[in-house]
Amino acid sequence: MANPFVEDIAARVGAAAGLAPAEVAQTLTTPPNPKMGDYCFPCFNAAKAQRCKPNEVAQELAARLAEGGYAGTVQVVGPYLNFLINRKDFSAWVLREVHQRKERYGHTNAFKGRKLVVDYSSPNICKHLSIYHVRNTMVGYALCQLHRAQGWTVVGINHLGDWGTQFGLLIAGFKRWGDENIFLGDAVEKLQDLYVKANEEAKKDEAFAAEGRAWFLKLEQGDPEALALWKRFRDASLAAFYEVYDTLGVKFEVIGGESLAREQMPRTIERAKAMGLATMSEGALIVDLSDMKMPPLMLLKSDGGTRYETRDLATAELRYEQHKFDKMIYVTGQDQKLYFRQLFETLRRMGYAWAERLRHVAHGMTRIAGERMRTRTGGAVKLRDVLAEAVERELEIVVAREAEAKTPAEAKAQAEHSRMVAIGSIIFHDLKREVTKDIDFDWDEALRWEGDTGAYVQYAHARICSILRKYGKPVSADVDAGLLSAEEEYLLIRKVSEFEAEIGRAVDRLEPSMICRYLLDLCALLSDFYGKHKVLCEDERLSAARVALMEAVRQTIANGLALLGVGAPEEM
Ligand code: ARG
Repeated sequence: MANPFVEDIAARVGAAAGLAPAEVAQTLTTPPNPKMGDYCFPCFNAAKAQRCKPNEVAQELAARLAEGGYAGTVQVVGPYLNFLINRKDFSAWVLREVHQRKERYGHTNAFKGRKLVVDYSSPNICKHLSIYHVRNTMVGYALCQLHRAQGWTVVGINHLGDWGTQFGLLIAGFKRWGDENIFLGDAVEKLQDLYVKANEEAKKDEAFAAEGRAWFLKLEQGDPEALALWKRFRDASLAAFYEVYDTLGVKFEVIGGESLAREQMPRTIERAKAMGLATMSEGALIVDLSDMKMPPLMLLKSDGGTRYETRDLATAELRYEQHKFDKMIYVTGQDQKLYFRQLFETLRRMGYAWAERLRHVAHGMTRIAGERMRTRTGGAVKLRDVLAEAVERELEIVVAREAEAKTPAEAKAQAEHSRMVAIGSIIFHDLKREVTKDIDFDWDEALRWEGDTGAYVQYAHARICSILRKYGKPVSADVDAGLLSAEEEYLLIRKVSEFEAEIGRAVDRLEPSMICRYLLDLCALLSDFYGKHKVLCEDERLSAARVALMEAVRQTIANGLALLGVGAPEEM
């Protein structure tokens, strides 16, 4: 949806200033005080280019500017050009747009034909997902959704950590202590314990450690027994992961994993050698990156085994061959920042122009009461448990607010919406922090219904639904928009109109938290509106106009939440 008001202003200012309209549109802001106008063009950059004073440039531009059309009238305030548009026409246009576009409101096709690969969630198998994975999974999912909203074709890949020495050790452990019982009940829990035990044993007993390494080499050589066992570990893990992904409502286009690079790796290593990158160092094959002040990247260990990095190089090659992506994003914790710089640099040196298209989104950690939630050996808070507890706690909150359900149908509805609010709250709590920041997970803070929380936004949605139910008639955008003349109404409409641009900014910065912020701001304006006005009132025409406005706000909230993977309940 191209905003005709912005376009017209951009064209006029562009013509007067000798700038590209798109550039002007980028610079346009909205004055914080709506009395100052609707759109504002700051003249600082134009003044810099012309080596003049901003105030003078503003005066000059205003004198040369053709007034009228969608741009309305212009006022000069110091270095700013303020445009006063016809608000009635603007409101009518915004309402029509939202009512026509519905679930697609805010979406564009601007990047149609572009392909994005997002590598996210990507847990290591034989361990439960921990609370840490909520951030990774939901940041990745939101980035997929945000790009889709701009027309990108997105392939979300769950790149399982399913290959490496640790699985050789696990097989050795299974051979020594394990049996079929491992695969009954909570298999992942038992595999996790088995791994801890095997790891401890390997530290004490070099012979056992060697057995583990030998099993991994067998795996790499495709030994059927080793592969069959490994596959059962992987399947059991995936089943456990899927319980959580289903609860979160996350779907991947591809379930990949480190193991899938097995056949490609020899070619990858050949290529690195052919490009003169691979050198031997203490028996290992490495890529020296010291000229970039980075540690070397290891391709082969001294025992000939491959590494995480070898598999990532090979996987990147395979993905490019298959998808010819225009951009590929890896989402991981901050601790892999240096690693991804090494990886991207190595791919560049291997002669791949597409290495420029790789991005690493490094996110902060989730802590509970200041404790790091990512431990290798036990103690990690399981995501499955956190989600289950959230649902339980939320039901208590809902029951306390709404009173005990009287009928089974009521009880079912209560259970359903408290579940949606519980999961939504956990996701929102996480996404509202900027990606790079750490999170201190706090139950009360996460589940609160007031303040900057998911439940607050969801509640705003449910409340509009309830007003619309009370209204009882079909909602139409064909209303007298001139009746929506109060400042609170105009500010709401203006905010709704900014949704698409906000998605664009969130995509540019790879920052889903901007959508959380946007929704919280929208809901704050909604609450200002409720404080001053009633939607359903005596005046039928006014009610109809306000209902149309409420529906536009509701749709925008629902669409925003959908980008984040959060549900929009109709009742709460
Ligand atoms: N499995 C890794 C971990 O848990 C993350 C994998 C990220 N993706 C990648 N292609 N390296 O830390």
